[in-house]
Amino acid sequence: MKRNFIIIILTLSSISVLRCAELITLNTNKLSTVLEVDDKGRLLHRYFGNKLVDTSPFLSKMLYRTTEYGTPNEAYSTMGGKNFREPALRITHFDGDLNTELQYNRHERHFDNEKGIEILVLFLRDKKYPLEVKLFYKAYYKENVYVMYTEITNHEEDNVVLHNYYSFYLPVDARQYYLTHFYGIATTEMSVEEIRLTHGMKSIETRKGIRSTHSENPSFLLSLNNPMNENNGEVIAGALAWSNNFKLNFELDEFNTLNISAGINPYAGEYHLATGKSFVTPPMVYTYSSNGSGDASRNLHDWARKDGLYAPTEIRPIVLNSWEGVYFDFNEQSLKDMIDGAAYLGIEMFVLDDGWFGNNYPRNSARMGLGDWQVNRKKLPNGIDSLAKYAKNKGVKFGIWIEPEMVSPESDLAKRHPEWIVKVEGREAPLRRNQWVLDLSNPAVQDFIFNAFDSVLQLSNDISYIKWDANRHIESVGSSWLPADRQSHFWIGYTEGLYNVYERIRKKYPHVIIQVCSSGGGRVEYGSLKYHQDFWASDNTDAFSRAFIQYGSNLIYPAIATGAHFSHVPNRHTKRIIPAKFRMDMAMTGRLGFEMKLQDLTGEESQNLKKAIKEYKEIRDIIQFGDLYRIVSPYDESGYYALMYVSKDKRRSVFYAFCLDYKGYLSTVNFKLNGLDDNKNYTITELNNPKPVFWGNGKTIKGDFLLKEGFNPQLQNIYQSIVLYLEASDSNSEIISHKPVKKP
Ligand code: GLA
Repeated sequence: MKRNFIIIILTLSSISVLRCAELITLNTNKLSTVLEVDDKGRLLHRYFGNKLVDTSPFLSKMLYRTTEYGTPNEAYSTMGGKNFREPALRITHFDGDLNTELQYNRHERHFDNEKGIEILVLFLRDKKYPLEVKLFYKAYYKENVYVMYTEITNHEEDNVVLHNYYSFYLPVDARQYYLTHFYGIATTEMSVEEIRLTHGMKSIETRKGIRSTHSENPSFLLSLNNPMNENNGEVIAGALAWSNNFKLNFELDEFNTLNISAGINPYAGEYHLATGKSFVTPPMVYTYSSNGSGDASRNLHDWARKDGLYAPTEIRPIVLNSWEGVYFDFNEQSLKDMIDGAAYLGIEMFVLDDGWFGNNYPRNSARMGLGDWQVNRKKLPNGIDSLAKYAKNKGVKFGIWIEPEMVSPESDLAKRHPEWIVKVEGREAPLRRNQWVLDLSNPAVQDFIFNAFDSVLQLSNDISYIKWDANRHIESVGSSWLPADRQSHFWIGYTEGLYNVYERIRKKYPHVIIQVCSSGGGRVEYGSLKYHQDFWASDNTDAFSRAFIQYGSNLIYPAIATGAHFSHVPNRHTKRIIPAKFRMDMAMTGRLGFEMKLQDLTGEESQNLKKAIKEYKEIRDIIQFGDLYRIVSPYDESGYYALMYVSKDKRRSVFYAFCLDYKGYLSTVNFKLNGLDDNKNYTITELNNPKPVFWGNGKTIKGDFLLKEGFNPQLQNIYQSIVLYLEASDSNSEIISHKPVKKP
């Protein structure tokens, strides 16, 4: 790499610094990021893509097609200088100056060899004022993932105001851009949309504060030049780790450069940064692949299972959650019956959902009681401990639901602490689901929530799982804790308060499993997942809908964290009646769980479930720690959805296919498998079927054949499905190399 060479020219009035341009490269095993310090001391972005052996040609390569009209590709764009793009950083300085021009000062590298991470820190400073910005780029070598965030420090004479303070900025050059992003309300979370970006700005954002991933998700996949494809083409994928208002901008400018900025939403969020203080922006996780979106997702999943989830290397237990089985309508006996059912089926964790607390305002419906985290003595006279012990004796672990950020108007807490409620003096605080939000920017509220969690855990030594819910979003924002001129700090204050509580909880309870739920999948993002083992993907447990919800979720978030529950029929949301096998097969594609009473099952169904649960236990390590290969998208016109997981050593795999829309026997399709070793022979076993129907069941087939030709499992009706387990065999048993044709 070229040495930094500095010529200092003294003039009468000023000192100008001229330097030779310098390149700064940060690699992973397969990728390179190349930045340039140009001769004016600016930090420019030069390259993000497959690993480069020699980056030096960048020093002689003309950067600007448009020196006169354009704007340089900065590493972190600001309002100021020649930039007219959406600035990642926009500041009003202490004296009202609206411009910021960052100059490179120096950089450092830090290594975490144990984790295989390199951190590049670039020190920048405004040309005029002592306003410092550090850019952090973390490279995860093996996972081929980068994480970017920034730290902004004010050394000016007085406060500055941060307007835009994004975590991430990336200029990209391609011929065309296809953006895949997510939308959805409770029951349609993570629905997938792909659009070709046109010139101008497309933003993905939320202003809801909580339930921030109902409506959109802070993540994306961007396919360059062609629409997204699983196995081919260049894809950039990213996800912001922030549990509140976010904004991702895709600005396609007149030179056809796509400028991506992502971070905290500037909406009503001006941040006053006092002299001497720093602000750190949340991490943006991103990756690149020239082998399509499948590879990009697998990189993100690998990253999540290293640094993105809480306890990422622990197998997740099979859960029975009480909600759809009994809702608010239970007593000790009915819960014991559910625990008995769980034990019988081989379920490992029983979770008591909403409705167990409140005495003056008993929680027998969603009308009252939130905030009063004491056991309802009438409903459960022997308390939680006796239930947890009962479960323990049956070999089942015990978990419980809380919604600690909320308060019902009808609760002891609301009467005691009206000042803790998010509201504006003189305006009515709107209710949603009959509840208000507690003002987590207030340290007293943070203490209350920590203590509420703590006191719930004290109800029994045998609580090992918490479902943490948050069932409304925030509007009509106001905090009686924050000063009048700092109300715009509310969103950040709330989120920092939440993370502060999580940190305290995790210190005291490192082993408790905490599921994140927010009316289903309203908080599915890597800011919260850092503290949680799994997320409740949706209240919609209909297996047909789940094909779409789980497919979308797993484009960004891994299956190990995706709560996927079997529930009874007709489904409470869609009224669909789907066969138990299909429902179970779909639940088995994620972190398996249940929402039902055993009494709702026929004897045959419970026998089958028992067997399938046993089988899931034997293969779940492949689902939870293996590589996901999407074979057919549920959005595909064929009407089929197929996917598979392959263990890292490629010796074991699980394949699933589902018929979502049967178009006649002439249109059944062949599935080419993916991710297997073409040289290995795989023995196939059909799972979750007492009477296997697959023609290849028990046969051994060469990986090469499975990859190139695949098979047609003959799913000949809507809601038919199949699960196959493939294991590499070293035997010379029968090798099938032809495709049998079954006449309907
Ligand atoms: C939310 C959750 C559900 C359930 C109910 C309880 O809707 O998403 O799973 O816990 O709250 O009130």
